[in-house]
Amino acid sequence: MVLHPLLERQILKYLDPEAPALPSDFLAAVDRAYRHADDARQRVERSMYLMSEELNARLDAKLVIETALNQEKAEQAALIDRLEEAHNQLLQSEKMASIGQLAAGVAHEINNPIGYVNSNLGTLRVYVGHLLNVIAAFEAAEALLPEGEARERIKATKHKAELDYLKTDVVELLAESLDGIGRVRRIVQDLKEFSHTDTGEWVLADLHKGLESTLNVVNNEIKYKARVVREYGELPALRCLPAQLNQVFMNLLVNAAHAIEARGTITIRTGLEGEDAWVEIADTGKGMPAHLLTRIFDPFFTTKPVGVGTGLGLSISYGIVQKHGGRIEVESEPGKGTTFRICLPVVLPAVSAVSPPPQSPQSTDHE
Ligand SMILES: Nc1ncnc2c1ncn2[C@@H]1O[C@H](COP(=O)(O)OP(=O)(O)OP(=O)(O)O)[C@@H](O)[C@H]1O
Ligand SMILES: [Mg+2]
Repeated sequence: MVLHPLLERQILKYLDPEAPALPSDFLAAVDRAYRHADDARQRVERSMYLMSEELNARLDAKLVIETALNQEKAEQAALIDRLEEAHNQLLQSEKMASIGQLAAGVAHEINNPIGYVNSNLGTLRVYVGHLLNVIAAFEAAEALLPEGEARERIKATKHKAELDYLKTDVVELLAESLDGIGRVRRIVQDLKEFSHTDTGEWVLADLHKGLESTLNVVNNEIKYKARVVREYGELPALRCLPAQLNQVFMNLLVNAAHAIEARGTITIRTGLEGEDAWVEIADTGKGMPAHLLTRIFDPFFTTKPVGVGTGLGLSISYGIVQKHGGRIEVESEPGKGTTFRICLPVVLPAVSAVSPPPQSPQSTDHE
């Protein structure tokens, strides 16, 4: 009779080998009990093994789900960021469009009166010149008059009118008024620019030439403040309104110079990235805190003293870059400096391939 190995081991362990053999039916019964218990143990072990397998599988599945959820969460966060950015851009461009319309209307309305006030003031200055000449002639003749009532009357009238003061002040008043009206005309021009009401010529131009001619124009503003570093890349000729792009460069360069308090560096970088030509103007000036960055493209937003800035520079630049199908980006860190980046699509590369070289008069249309 083959006993269960465990039962056999127990018998050998606890029974004297000399003792009479246990009755075979007793042994068979104990053996069955052992086998039964052993089967039950094996079944329990097996089901525990299966359960742990299942638990592990569930855990793995949970981990996969958790990773997928985390990924989805990250994607959602990125999507929300992109949406918010798109929303802000939309708000900004809508705001710009409506301000543009408003500005165009205002500029149109005041252009006319400013025109005739300016022209009338010019004529008035000539007339006043003539009148002063006539007064001078009268004054020369006055000395020839005999002493008497007429001469006294003239003297009293001159005194009452403070003629000597009046003669110098009237000239100054006119000069000031002409200067003032000139400034208003420039602002109206800027407003018209901002609202794209002009019809400039689209030509192929070399942005580097534009940058250089602009640097020449603003040299006076920059030279005492900053060293200019050029890091120019390769740029194809660009179909654009060069005079207007120069205006953008000018605004950015002057702003950069204004932002530098003692002495600093202005770095102009250019390059090509995919379909876009880009121009970067970076300064080592005072930079801007985040709350200012959201407002700098608003018309009339300025932190400069009255008479220094009108606050139109960046809003006009924004409009011009937008007209070219491009965009303008800004990064700034207070105390470190600011970088403005203009990206302009290189439209119609086929046209620029057959275009005249940049030296030709057509492509060097800078003011
Ligand atoms: N590079 C810069 N560094 C620091 N602040 C800047 C810079 N560029 C612009 N700003 C801020 O943005 C404001 C708006 O600039 P914007 O060019 O529109 O107007 P402005 O320079 O004040 O006047 P203007 O009409 O004469 O250009 C500035 O007053 C200044 O506070
Ligand atoms: Mg400016």
